[in-house]
Amino acid sequence: MTSSQIDNNPIRQSTGGQTADSQPILEVRDLVKDFGGVRAVDHCSLDVMPGTITGLIGPNGAGKTTLFNLISGFHKLTAGTITFLGKRIDGMEAHETFHAGLVRTFQIPREFKYMTVLENLMLVPANQEGERIWASWFTPWRIAPQERAIERQALETLEFLNLDHLKDEYAANLSGGQKKLLELGRTLMAKPKMILLDEPSAGVSPALTDLLMEDIRRTQEETGITILIIEHNMRVVMSLCDPVIVLSEGRKLMEGTPEEVQRDEEVLRAYLGFSGEASAAAGENTAHETAPNEAEFGETKAGA
Ligand SMILES: Nc1ncnc2c1ncn2[C@@H]1O[C@H](COP(=O)(O)OP(=O)(O)O)[C@@H](O)[C@H]1O
Ligand SMILES: [Mg+2]
Repeated sequence: MTSSQIDNNPIRQSTGGQTADSQPILEVRDLVKDFGGVRAVDHCSLDVMPGTITGLIGPNGAGKTTLFNLISGFHKLTAGTITFLGKRIDGMEAHETFHAGLVRTFQIPREFKYMTVLENLMLVPANQEGERIWASWFTPWRIAPQERAIERQALETLEFLNLDHLKDEYAANLSGGQKKLLELGRTLMAKPKMILLDEPSAGVSPALTDLLMEDIRRTQEETGITILIIEHNMRVVMSLCDPVIVLSEGRKLMEGTPEEVQRDEEVLRAYLGFSGEASAAAGENTAHETAPNEAEFGETKAGA
């Protein structure tokens, strides 16, 4: 990444200001979450390095979604700490982590079906700065320049995602894949430092999944935003994520390159031992006869 790229890119974000590249952008330490008698997250510790697309995989019930809910402030943790950009964020509410630059896709309200694509994007900063928009009722001369800047940012974001030809289309008329792109665009409007994506490929056709993956990759490369992705589709994980963190029974089982993770026997056991989905997907082979190949993981898509 050259500095001219940085300067020219309208939606480029810092990955964390003065944070050196060797410092994690997100540090989870000894995190515990109990739901009544169920321990969903069990002394989980993991780091996410800035500028990575980190994959989070694991069998159903491993605690992946709960971990996202804890990081983004949707759930109160039972114990442990979460540090983002060097600051403790455990105990923060969802809107506070949002303002800190950590955006989970559903922290942004779902798209408004009968607003245009452009309007949907323009609403995000308004949501973020609700009071200021409110204040502009009383100081109307301020709203025009602010709105123009937001519109410019929205148009640039649509161009970036190759959605600009759809800017006047109602969101309701978009395909599943285009809606995912719109969601990514709406996320970018919040100018996050880090994005948490929960199964971006779920409900998206294989062809559009490739486009979506390419856009996620380009978003990381050109904006510097750190991305943490929960994904069941191993084809997506293998080609998009590095490193990959494997969660099992509420804690980190291992971390490595996609290749390392796919070769790891413990990972295979975690998948096979839990739900039986992987062995079902492997057809007539028994668990032990089956190599940890792509198909096996790829079919472990219960959430999709
Ligand atoms: N809101 C909740 N109330 C009670 N139990 C929950 C809740 N959310 C998740 N769990 C339980 O926590 C465990 C982990 O779930 P989850 O985080 O959804 O796993 P994953 O996303 O990896 O499939 C499961 O046993 C699940 O039943
Ligand atoms: Mg989940």
